[in-house]
Amino acid sequence: MKTLNDFNFKGKTVIVRSDLNSDIKNGKVLMSKRIKESSVTIKELKNKGAKIVIIAHQGRKGKVDCISLRQHAKLLSKFTKVKFVDDIIGKGAELEVSKLKNGEAVLLENIRFLDKEMKPGKNSFVKFFIGKIDIYVNDAFSVCHRKQTSIVTFPKYFKHCMGRVLQKEVEALEKINLKDCLYILGGAKPKDNIKLLKKNRVLATGFFGQLCLIAKGIKFGEYENFLKDLLKDEFNVHKKLKKKLDNVIVPIDYAIKINGKRKEILVEDFPNKHIIYDIGKMTMNRFSDEIKKAKAIYMKGPSGDCRESQFSKGTISILNEVSKSSGFTLIGGGHLNDAIDKSKIPRNKFNHISLSGGALLSYLSGEKLPGLKALK
Ligand code: 3PG
Repeated sequence: MKTLNDFNFKGKTVIVRSDLNSDIKNGKVLMSKRIKESSVTIKELKNKGAKIVIIAHQGRKGKVDCISLRQHAKLLSKFTKVKFVDDIIGKGAELEVSKLKNGEAVLLENIRFLDKEMKPGKNSFVKFFIGKIDIYVNDAFSVCHRKQTSIVTFPKYFKHCMGRVLQKEVEALEKINLKDCLYILGGAKPKDNIKLLKKNRVLATGFFGQLCLIAKGIKFGEYENFLKDLLKDEFNVHKKLKKKLDNVIVPIDYAIKINGKRKEILVEDFPNKHIIYDIGKMTMNRFSDEIKKAKAIYMKGPSGDCRESQFSKGTISILNEVSKSSGFTLIGGGHLNDAIDKSKIPRNKFNHISLSGGALLSYLSGEKLPGLKALK
């Protein structure tokens, strides 16, 4: 696969597919490692004299986190200046792209606002850019498991290469050794995790752990409606989980919020009206015993809502234990990257920290990622 070293970018208009997908709290986009890292490729392209058009997504259509990239532009500009354009394939985008000078960058609006992003093919999204851009750079390894226009169609119509973030991921993954690996699977996207439920031992956390418990017949009460609302179709994953739980260890207690404060209750104390925010101390201890025995560890997604520090405890306790392991350790996903930054754990305590969640998981389960295939 080609890299940024393989082209002369001076005066060329370059479209960069970045992954800026970040946590949102009360409508505010939180600064993330993904935003910071994405700036590396953009800076390099600016220095090389390119005119840069950045495309990216936030959230999934129909979900509350699918919002404009206006705030992302501000956050990205803390590292390298980018102008936000409130358009993707309309007159506004056309004008701004045509005005770009060497070394300047614009960030277009959330591409998941366009239906055509989700339906790859020679559609109006890609056609708009034909004749306007010279080179396509994919810097979003974390979206390479998705067959979406910005990932699989663009490379068919433009000269293409990897950005530095994607290149770093691919080079690190070529070296990993995950024999007899313990999987610690959490986060907010439970569906992806099913691919890894085979022979390996699994510690189930986050929404995934809760769906495993539902699959085992636990009733959470009102919280289940909250989960259904939040996870939409992914909630039904629990039906598929029923027959796949032989090697899965589930939480035994959870943290809830009472009068704004963390309180821990046992799984057997459900159903009740409380919302789950994190795993409890007993689960942390149980998981820690398993982590100590592991020869290699892959951890994906947090165990609780890390936007509040009192509910980061489970995630940080697991990360701490993993950081002490003598086996190979691989951490994946945007949320865990941010959790590591918030904790005091040095990043070099892990063998590789990937910015990618689902894409890494697909890669580990042996799938060929469509986004990488398209770049070859
Ligand atoms: C991620 O957060 O893993 C990537 O941004 C991909 O997002 P998606 O799972 O909504 O495609």
